Amino acid sequence: MKIQTVGIVGAGQMGRGIAQVCAASGLSVLLNDIGETAMRSGINGISSALDRLASKGKISESDATAIGARITGSVTLQDLATCDLVIEAATEDLRVKQDILARLDSIVRQDTIVATNTSSVSVTKLGAALANPERFTGLHFFNPVPVMELVEVIRGIQTSDETFDTVIAFAKRIGKSPIDVKNSPGFVVNRILVPMINEAIFALHERLAGAEEIDAGMKLGAGHPMGPLALADLIGLDTLLAIMDVLCRDFNDPKYRPAPLLRELVDAGHLGRKSGRGFYAY
Ligand code: CAA
Repeated sequence: MKIQTVGIVGAGQMGRGIAQVCAASGLSVLLNDIGETAMRSGINGISSALDRLASKGKISESDATAIGARITGSVTLQDLATCDLVIEAATEDLRVKQDILARLDSIVRQDTIVATNTSSVSVTKLGAALANPERFTGLHFFNPVPVMELVEVIRGIQTSDETFDTVIAFAKRIGKSPIDVKNSPGFVVNRILVPMINEAIFALHERLAGAEEIDAGMKLGAGHPMGPLALADLIGLDTLLAIMDVLCRDFNDPKYRPAPLLRELVDAGHLGRKSGRGFYAY
C-alpha cells in the first residue's frame, strides 16, 4: 500500500517531531491532540523548528513554508478517517494508549496501518485493542526525532508480514534506518539505554559525583554525545520512570528497580526540559 496521508495522535515532543519528518518527506500529515492548546503548541513548535532550519540555511524558506503547509492540526480523532497510516504518540500510559487505539479502530479504514510510538509498552498488548491487530505494529522513534536516524519497527505476535514490510518501507522513505525488533519490554535501545541512565541517577543520589561530573564522565570517558542526566532531561523524567516501571514489572526482576530519586523528581513535577527543570534548570 502507498502511504500518502499520515495521522499522528499526540502533539508532544515525539508527535511533533514525527509530523515534521513525515511532512519533510512530502507526505500529508494530520497532527491530532485532545485540545486546541496542545495541538497549537505542536504546530507552533514545528514552525519554530522549520524557521531555525531555514535560518541556518539547512532548508530554503520556501521548503520550510511548503513543509509547514503539509501539516494540518486536528482535535477530533474522526479527522483521521482518511489516513493510510496512523501513528499513536500519546503519553506513555497503557490505558490512554488502549483507549485511543480502540477508538481509532472504528474510525480508520480496514486497510489503514496503525502504529504505536510506545517506548516500552508491549506491542502485542496494545494490538489487542484493535479488532484486526495484524495491521498493527510498533514504530519507535528517538528524540530529537528530526536528528536521530534510528527507528525500531516492532512486531507484535499478531503483526502480519505485509504490515511489517510496509512499515519498514515507510521508515526508509522518511529517511530513517529501521531495525527489526521482536516485542519485549523496552525493545532493544531502551532496554540498554534507560537502565544506564537509571544507574547514573543512583550514582548522583549516592553522591559519587555531581551531575556535571557524571555527565562529563560519560561524555569524555565513554564518548557519549551527551551525559546521561542531560539526556534524562531531554527524554523526560516521567517517560523514563514509566519505562523503568515497565521493565521492572514485566521482567519481574529487581535489577530494573527505578532510582528513588527519579520517582521523587517526577512526583515534584521536575520532568526535565519540558517542565523547565530536571537534573538541570532550563
Ligand atoms: N530538535 C531538532 N534538531 C535538534 C535538536 C532538537 N531538539 N537538538 C539538536 N538538534 C540539531 C541541531 O540543530 C544540530 O543540527 P545541525 O548540525 O544540522 O546544525 C544538530 O542537532 C546538533 O546539535 P547541536 O550542535 O546543538 O548539539 P549536539 O552536537 O550536542 O547534538 C544532540 C545534540 C543531537 C541531541 C546530541 O547531543 C545527541 O545525539 N544526544 C543523544 C540523543 C539520544 O540519545 N537520543 C535518544 C534518546 S532515547 C529516546 O528518545 C527513546 C525513548 O523512547 C526514550
